[in-house]
Amino acid sequence: MSNVLITGTTSGIGKAFAEKFAQKGHNLILVSRNAEKLQAQQSYLQTHFDVNVKIVACDLSAENAIMEIQNKLNEWQIAVDILINNAGFNECGAFVDTDLTKELEMINLHISFATKLVKSLLPNMIKNHYGRILNVGSTGSYIASPTDAVYSATKAYILSFSNALCGELTKTGVKVTTLCPGATKTEFAQKANIQNSPLFKFAVMKPEKVVKKAYPKLMKGKRLVIPGVYNKMLVLCSKILPVRLLNKITIRMMKNKPIKTK
Ligand SMILES: NC(=O)c1ccc[n+]([C@@H]2O[C@H](COP(=O)([O-])OP(=O)(O)OC[C@H]3O[C@@H](n4cnc5c(N)ncnc54)[C@H](OP(=O)(O)O)[C@@H]3O)[C@@H](O)[C@H]2O)c1
Repeated sequence: MSNVLITGTTSGIGKAFAEKFAQKGHNLILVSRNAEKLQAQQSYLQTHFDVNVKIVACDLSAENAIMEIQNKLNEWQIAVDILINNAGFNECGAFVDTDLTKELEMINLHISFATKLVKSLLPNMIKNHYGRILNVGSTGSYIASPTDAVYSATKAYILSFSNALCGELTKTGVKVTTLCPGATKTEFAQKANIQNSPLFKFAVMKPEKVVKKAYPKLMKGKRLVIPGVYNKMLVLCSKILPVRLLNKITIRMMKNKPIKTK
C-alpha cells in the first residue's frame, strides 16, 4: 500500500482525508502543529484501521519546517507516494486593517511551504513512475476576493502552480490535482471569524463529503476537483461576470454579521 503524507490533519478536510486513506488501507504520515492532537489521532487511526501512522508536529509556516519533515522521512526511510498539501487558514478583513504578520505566515504556509514540499517529494515520485499530489485551493482560487485579498491570492497561486505542474509531468506517472472547495463546515470559518457571514450560511459542505468527491478523482489523476454544484456554479460565474460585479457580490458574501441575541 502507498505512503500518504497529509498536512493539517488535526481538523476539517485534512482530518477527513486521513480517515479516508486509513479506511482504504494506506500508511500515513500526518504533519500538523498540535502534538497532543496528533498523538490522539495516531492512536485512533492505528486502533481502528490496519495501517501504520507516523506523525510530525511542527509549525509549517516556519522556515525550518521542510528540514524537519525531510529529516523524519530519511530517519524512517519512507518514500512518499501520495501528498495532500492541505494545511491552511484565513485572515479576513479590509487589507488596510488585517494583521500583516498573519498574512505573511499564510503566504509562507500556502505558497512557500507547499512549494518546498512538492519540490522535496517530486523527484522520488518521478523515479518510481508513480505519484499523486493534491494541493488544496479554494473557489477563491478563481475569485480575487475583496476583504480576503491575501488568502484568495495565495489560493490563485496554488491553482496556477498545480495546473502548470500537470503540464510538465505528463508521461511521468505523477499526477497533480487541485481541490477547490467552497464553504466547508470545519474550524476554518470560526478561526477567521467569518462563521456568521452569508458565505457560511448557504450550501456549506461537510468535510467528509468534500473528501468523498476528491478521493476517487485524485486516485484517477484528475486535474481539478470542485466539489458541489453550487461551487461549480460560483467558478463558472467567476469566468463570465465582470470583476466589478464579482467584487460587490464577494464583499456581501464575506461580511460577518453579528450574532443575534434576544
Ligand atoms: N473550510 C472552508 O470553508 C474552506 C474552503 C476552501 C478552502 N479551504 C482550505 O481547506 C484547507 C483545510 O482547511 P479546513 O477547512 O479543514 O480548516 P481547519 O479545520 O482549520 O483545518 C486546518 C488544518 O491546518 C492546520 N494548520 C493551520 N496552520 C498550520 C501551520 N502553520 N502549521 C501546521 N498546521 C497548520 C490546522 O492546525 P491548527 O488547528 O493547529 O491550526 C488544521 O489541522 C485549507 O487549505 C483551507 O484554505 C477551506
